[in-house]
Amino acid sequence: MSYPDKVYLNGQIVDSAEAKISVFNRGFIFGDGLYEVMVQINGIFFYEKEHLARLQSGLHKVNIDFDVAILNNEIPKLLHAAQLTDVDCMLYIQITRGVAPRQHSFPSNIKPTVMIYAVPKVLPEINLVNAHVIIRKDFRWSRCDIKMTSLLGNVMLNEEAMQHDCYETILHRNGVFTEASHSNLFFVKDGAVYTHPADEHILNGITRIVVIELCHLLGIKIIEKAIKVAEIDSIDEAFLTGTSTQIAAIQNIDDHQLYSGNKKGPITKRLQEAFLKLK
Ligand SMILES: Cc1ncc(COP(=O)(O)O)c(C=O)c1O
Repeated sequence: MSYPDKVYLNGQIVDSAEAKISVFNRGFIFGDGLYEVMVQINGIFFYEKEHLARLQSGLHKVNIDFDVAILNNEIPKLLHAAQLTDVDCMLYIQITRGVAPRQHSFPSNIKPTVMIYAVPKVLPEINLVNAHVIIRKDFRWSRCDIKMTSLLGNVMLNEEAMQHDCYETILHRNGVFTEASHSNLFFVKDGAVYTHPADEHILNGITRIVVIELCHLLGIKIIEKAIKVAEIDSIDEAFLTGTSTQIAAIQNIDDHQLYSGNKKGPITKRLQEAFLKLK
């Protein structure tokens, strides 16, 4: 991972070393902000409309007054300055509530801070990883549907996976699997695909939505119902989804091995191949 050369900050494009915000920015003080990540593949942002719609919906939920339609003009300017127009890249957008003296309540006329950058990123055609994951309790707050910048819970849970040389940490709450530290979680059982419903305990990933659509298209039974931790031994396949993860097959859950070697489940493989055709 490297830093971008250029950053878009509140309407200006600046060298990233010159991009400065106030220490009283509520994004810095409270983590009071939202973000979005999308990838450009062959000159087109993959499901851009859906990513921007999720950002707009999140901004409404937390009462940050910003119209994401503005970004349709601003993103191309940033890409041009960063020499990434039509180049495969990852785009990061962060919108915080803005700057105000530190107290929980905020002034009604506060102006959001908008920061965008892009870095080159070429995703593999198919994610070939056979992921080893660990299981941990989902101790994050109860509004995981909001894609907020305060990711300390996710960072702590992800770090445990890193310490165990694992790819991800899959999470459970109230006896059922929710999602993972930075991806959504799917299981296959008796030929049907299961994933946690899109409620306040998970982020409704754009890749999650695409995979659900693909299941419908391919005639694979898809059930938005959480799998119980106690059901783990009856699972046939499991996989993770996310913007850069795409679809990653899970091989091991703690000591429970789903597959050996480079094998993966037939439904995971079918979905990966169908996903590739969308790009
Ligand atoms: C907690 C969490 N769940 C799921 C996802 C996957 O979302 P998407 O497919 O929109 O990238 C992410 C992505 O950042 C995430 O952080």
